[in-house]
Amino acid sequence: MVTKKEYTCVLVETDDEGITWITFNRPEKRNAMNPTLLVEMEQITYELETDDDTKVIVITGAGNSWSAGMDLRQYFRETDKDPVARFRGMTAHRRWAELLTWSRKPTIAMVNGYCYGGAFISLAACDIVVAADNATFGLSEVNWGIIPGGNVSKVFGDMVSFRNALFYAMTGRTIDGRKAVEMGIATLSVPAEKLREETVTVARELIAKSPMVLAYTKQAIRAVRGMDMDQAYEYLGAKSMALRAADPEQTRARGMREFLDEKKFRPGLEPVKRPSEEK
Ligand code: COA
Repeated sequence: MVTKKEYTCVLVETDDEGITWITFNRPEKRNAMNPTLLVEMEQITYELETDDDTKVIVITGAGNSWSAGMDLRQYFRETDKDPVARFRGMTAHRRWAELLTWSRKPTIAMVNGYCYGGAFISLAACDIVVAADNATFGLSEVNWGIIPGGNVSKVFGDMVSFRNALFYAMTGRTIDGRKAVEMGIATLSVPAEKLREETVTVARELIAKSPMVLAYTKQAIRAVRGMDMDQAYEYLGAKSMALRAADPEQTRARGMREFLDEKKFRPGLEPVKRPSEEK
């Protein structure tokens, strides 16, 4: 593991496979997001975007929590009388989410524990969410006399059904990892002791693919969400041509050659198995 830079509230390490592990590192406060963490995350996501050693980004939390959401003391109460600090933190959060959402690198949230309120912003920005079965998700804002703001209502509502968005925002009820998969919040849910292994398996699968093709694929899936049919057809046509021109590995031509001519490539032959499924 290589640590290129030290931060106060976040640990950033890159392993020799190209997985950069970002760990929210305030376990004593359940990794609640204070202004320092928000500003550091903005800087980290900005820098990793052009870090050649980083092939996949995994975001997790130290201790028993992914993140307990916005820091009620340092982000809310202490900035009530300090609008500049509030603005700085809020803006850093928004920029970080935007950088992560549109990152060319594949991103995985490895949810090891609590994930509340404001933590849904970065959760939704990640491409893939691997959660522990016993992780706990929830919109607890209603208990604090606030609404799920900072775009939490928007990203949550985009992930789950309209009925579930209303129900979980209005009751503040919690959701475990398995239920989170059913609802569309998480991609996979695995036993806690397998969490890291399963996350690494997914990360390796992504590392084995062309980085340029992956970047275009995730951006395409994200971009068409806000388009109508006609716009999406046009956009995807142009995006496909752009990829053919931009892909330095010419993956499309190679894939066709290996499948049609050399007959040594059968990507559709069988589903990839995760270690826990292998007998
Ligand atoms: N903001 C600020 N501090 C927080 C926090 C938050 N969102 N979540 C936890 N903490 C702090 C606690 O105040 C406590 O600090 P202290 O040791 O100085 O008293 C410390 O983290 C440990 O919290 P504690 O409640 O003792 O841990 P726990 O493991 O029993 O419970 C939670 C963990 C996450 C279930 C619980 O802390 C909680 O409900 N937090 C609030 C989560 C929330 O509603 N977030 C959304 C905010 S909009």
